[in-house]
Amino acid sequence: MKTYLVTGGAGFIGSNFVLYLLRTHDDIRIINVDKLTYAGNLENLSSIEHDERHIFSQTDICDKPAIEALFAQYKPDYVVNFAAESHVDRSIATPEIFAHTNVMGTVTMLNAAKAAWIEPDGSFGDHKYLQVSTDEVYGSLSIDEPDSFFRETTPINPHSPYSASKAASDMFVKAYGDTYGMPINITRCSNNYGPFQFPEKLIPLMINNALQHEHLPIYGDGKNIRDWLYVEDHCKAIDMVLSNGTIGEVYNVGGHNERPNNFIVKTIIAEVSKAVNDPAINQTLITYVTDRKGHDRRYGIAPDKIKRDLGWYPETKFEDGIIKTIDWYLAHEEWMKHVTSGAYLKYYDTMYRNR
Ligand code: NAD
Ligand code: TYD
Repeated sequence: MKTYLVTGGAGFIGSNFVLYLLRTHDDIRIINVDKLTYAGNLENLSSIEHDERHIFSQTDICDKPAIEALFAQYKPDYVVNFAAESHVDRSIATPEIFAHTNVMGTVTMLNAAKAAWIEPDGSFGDHKYLQVSTDEVYGSLSIDEPDSFFRETTPINPHSPYSASKAASDMFVKAYGDTYGMPINITRCSNNYGPFQFPEKLIPLMINNALQHEHLPIYGDGKNIRDWLYVEDHCKAIDMVLSNGTIGEVYNVGGHNERPNNFIVKTIIAEVSKAVNDPAINQTLITYVTDRKGHDRRYGIAPDKIKRDLGWYPETKFEDGIIKTIDWYLAHEEWMKHVTSGAYLKYYDTMYRNR
């Protein structure tokens, strides 16, 4: 039996990953370590409440003694580090928390894993540490050069405090591989969408606002491009890298599904309006607002390496994934109400309504 220590497993991608692992593997145990910030929600895991293979611990990845105690108690074979502050707009408002959680949290996890795993001869056995990173560490591509893509060899060139903190943590993970011989992988994925995504990110925010007949704030001219991947395809990629990725390697994950924000918002308007049969959900809700500071123009991944070396490919087409996602949000109004109460609304007012 393999034991996975998954951090951030109550957040968007982390909870999807925990559910994916339990669905696709029998003989495993998952130690889910999450601080439960505004972005973490145990409701995401309600379907596995009684699954004894899943153990939840409300712990901060920066809390060294608590993390060391979890390693001592559960002796994990693998670490998958999702836990992070993840929203670019928040990083522009408060960069320090991004440096703290994303960089110091990663170093704390690396140190605890190294101490728990290293043998007297300096070897690490069959353990592996996987850092879940982002294509945003590569910076931005031009919308006028649609044939240029991020590759694993693209120089790191982050722009936002969020991507800077992710790039810094990637460098620490690489350093633990290079210096101590720790078995590591880094995955760098493009923008995810799907169930359980907190409605501060583009797709769930637009679905939620459309349903409330609230304005749909598009930053700048709306021509910025993101490369969208259905979350389950990302989960599958992480699982494959964990089992078969070559030690020390970086793998980019993306599905060549680049869409301008204007297209995404207009698609959501059309599909939500149709799903709830409400003609008041239409393009008059769109409001062009002040652009995000340092707004990256385009992200686009060339996933050639993970396809060639591990046989990964994205299974969900955007046209299907967006309908599945909208249907999920329509069926989970309670979830939406719960996560949009309290701290989120206060933040939402400052960030969007007062623009
Ligand atoms: P999220 O914000 O939905 O979830 C983050 C989770 O981490 C939450 O459950 C939160 O409670 C937890 N967390 C935050 N600080 C913590 C701390 N100090 N200790 C323990 N837990 C803590 O984020 P997400 O979108 O699910 O992203 C997960 C990871 O994937 C992040 O590392 C992010 O950089 C990366 N990533 C995200 C995307 C995307 O499109 N969302 C794309 C590529 C990579
Ligand atoms: P987001 O979901 O925050 O992801 P990221 O910044 O990590 O790519 O934003 C996706 C794109 O949508 C990005 O170009 C910013 C834009 N955006 C808006 O135009 N309006 C919004 O309200 C939000 C949240 C994002």
